[in-house]
Amino acid sequence: MPNRLTKRTLAVAAAVSALMLPSLAMAGQDAKRGQQVYTAQKCQGCHNIGGKGYKTNTLDGVGKKLSAADIRAWIVTPKAMATKTKATGKPPMPDRYAKLPAADIDALVAYMQSLK
Ligand code: HEC
Repeated sequence: MPNRLTKRTLAVAAAVSALMLPSLAMAGQDAKRGQQVYTAQKCQGCHNIGGKGYKTNTLDGVGKKLSAADIRAWIVTPKAMATKTKATGKPPMPDRYAKLPAADIDALVAYMQSLK
């Protein structure tokens, strides 16, 4: 019965999009929260976004340049990432952010990913 199959496909598609929509909305909210964490943690003391902040180490386009996993690695293990990527930027990124609440780190990653 092709009809039943179509109905089932539609039902599955509807269920999937119902699941996806809130997560998309949440990604937007996370990015917004991440922006607040970014400011509160004074990341702008060494980075700039849209011309605002420190003179070098721009994060413009970092969401296009790096994967979410690499962004997270920079936040929680910056020394290892600097060694791995032979980063020459100054001053070196401190590794105190690994101690932030997991939700704050997730939000920071979402914010960085939104910078495209
Ligand atoms: C004391 C200075 C300093 C602070 C504070 C700092 N960073 Fe960094 N960060 C750096 C430097 C230097 C690099 C390496 C840049 C390079 O040489 O490419 C870097 C690299 C990064 C990268 C990778 C950028 C790229 O283009 O590969 C990300 C993402 C990042 N930082 C995010 C953050 C976030 C988020 C915060 C705040 C929670 C933060 N940083 C705080 C100095 C800092």
